[in-house]
Amino acid sequence: MITETMKARFDREVAKYPPDQKQSAVMACLAIVQQEQGFVSRAAEQEVAEYLGMPPIAVHEVTTFYNMYNQAPTGKYKLNVCTNLPCQLRDGAKALHHLEQRLGVKMGETTADGLFTLQQSECLGACADSPVMLVNDRTMCSFMSNDKLDQLVDGLRAADGASKSKAG
Ligand code: FES
Repeated sequence: MITETMKARFDREVAKYPPDQKQSAVMACLAIVQQEQGFVSRAAEQEVAEYLGMPPIAVHEVTTFYNMYNQAPTGKYKLNVCTNLPCQLRDGAKALHHLEQRLGVKMGETTADGLFTLQQSECLGACADSPVMLVNDRTMCSFMSNDKLDQLVDGLRAADGASKSKAG
């Protein structure tokens, strides 16, 4: 499950901390698992726990506390719309509902073609830019009006189509 390449990357993260504090690398190791495997399974949590010498439940607590860790496979594009209170007051929920209608899925679901997973997110620290969202945990999108949401979905679909035709 955890490959030698991944273990080598774990080693580099652990080396950043004193030898008796290697558990401090838990978030980095889980991020590596997710980069390599798309999500963090319970089996992977177990292996990370063994590697870092910590109880599996402590690793699970980290995975479940931060919503950037996927606990199940997601679509190619994970869309996280902030719906915390400040964003709720400035159309955060409206943006989420627009995406639900546009993609034909409910919050938490993945489209049948496996392209999009739609989720809520906690505060992204950009409340003044609401509606805000993250794409694949990295790309922040601000002031997401319905028009901009439509453009984003169309753009990602086009990018996926282009990458498939290049591969084919
Ligand atoms: Fe949405 Fe802060 S509440 S970014």
